Amino acid sequence: MAPTITAPRGTRDQLPEEGAAWNRVEAVARDLSRRYAFDRIEIPLFERVELFARGLGESSDAVEKEMFRVGGARGSDEERAEWALRPEPTAGIVRAYIEHGMHVRPGPLRLTMTGPMFRYDRPQAGRYRQFSQWDVEVLGDPGPPVDAELIELAMRFYGEVGLADVVAHVNSIGDAACRPAYRQVLIDYFGGHLEGLTDDSRRRLEINPLRVLDDKQLAPDLAEGAPRSTDHLCDACRAHFRGVLDLLDAQGVRYVADHRLVRGLDYYTRTAFEFVIAGREGQQQALGGGGRYDGLAELLGGRPTPGIGFGIGLDRTVLAMQEQGVALPGAAALVAVVGTGDDHADRLRVAAALRDAGLAVRPDGTSRKLGKQLESAAKAGAAWAAIVGEELGEGRIGLKNLATGEQETVALEEAAALVRAADG
Ligand code: HAM
Repeated sequence: MAPTITAPRGTRDQLPEEGAAWNRVEAVARDLSRRYAFDRIEIPLFERVELFARGLGESSDAVEKEMFRVGGARGSDEERAEWALRPEPTAGIVRAYIEHGMHVRPGPLRLTMTGPMFRYDRPQAGRYRQFSQWDVEVLGDPGPPVDAELIELAMRFYGEVGLADVVAHVNSIGDAACRPAYRQVLIDYFGGHLEGLTDDSRRRLEINPLRVLDDKQLAPDLAEGAPRSTDHLCDACRAHFRGVLDLLDAQGVRYVADHRLVRGLDYYTRTAFEFVIAGREGQQQALGGGGRYDGLAELLGGRPTPGIGFGIGLDRTVLAMQEQGVALPGAAALVAVVGTGDDHADRLRVAAALRDAGLAVRPDGTSRKLGKQLESAAKAGAAWAAIVGEELGEGRIGLKNLATGEQETVALEEAAALVRAADG
């Protein structure tokens, strides 16, 4: 036997038994996108490395350690240096916004997409090299109302997929006016405690001292004593943050003001937030996150445009649903179409008619004995069998309830209504 080939490390096959949970998260995302008036956008799966380096920041993990490079069919090193699979969609969406001159459209623009992202990270539970996000972005709205609206939207998503105990962690990390001074305060503080820092944090201290705050190995007393961004905000950022929190209170959103929340991508300004299951904080297992990125469009060569958005990790959402045992509706009743001999044209015709009426139908494609076909139908999970026989000449079929064994002859048009009525 040839050696078997397995899925690449850090990727997962989504098997049919997970289908109901994925259907639920995708349906809720789609429905909320409509109810919150977001328009769909799609961007390429790969972009120039430079887009991510400039947008997410050279010192972000996503760029520094996790770029998933691609190099085309003949894969030269130059090509590999140029292209990468998208680690996240925000930079690509802002690139598209600039490239298509979308600032002239009546704004603010509300854009959404769902799809796979790639980070060449060390795989572990809940951390994959390919994962899916539901992403929403609002461009051209300075907030604060939209900041609170998006946090409420994400919390509503978790509620509607059936998750309990999700909490929003919220912080403000300032802007170009006040962040430089705060950075210096952090450099001075951690600079006096170098012996307590990991190698990573020591290296980061000069490039992006805020990231030291979310080093999960940071000693608790060092973390607790660290200067807080909210104590170093300029007046405009402080008023903005107060505005967001007041609006969250007014909407009854459950949140925690978290002074250690800084986010892993460099484009954020002011509002930053993450969603976690209560009691699971600090396990690097956020279910989603986002924030404001008022400087990103300019960084990518566009005109100054305020922006805010979030990405929800759908894999982690599905895992959390499984852990919490979220009840999902069973599949709709399946109807097997069986018959005798080679009456396949009739079986396919009956199947088509039942599908026209909205039922899920699986015709038996064999010429086995009727009893065998009925046995397989029950094994495959069919609740009903539509039995094709001579009565089809008068537009009638046998309808057998495979659970009770009851059978009656009914008009083809009636069959769907009977199945649906029994299905409740
Ligand atoms: P992020 O925090 O890097 O933000 O990712 C958002 C979510 O994607 C995470 O909270 C997590 O649920 C999921 N996620 C990230 N990496 C992995 C992974 N390796 N395996 C499984 N799930 C993962 C962003 O990506 C920003 N673009 C969000 C945003 C949109 N900010 C503004 N607009």
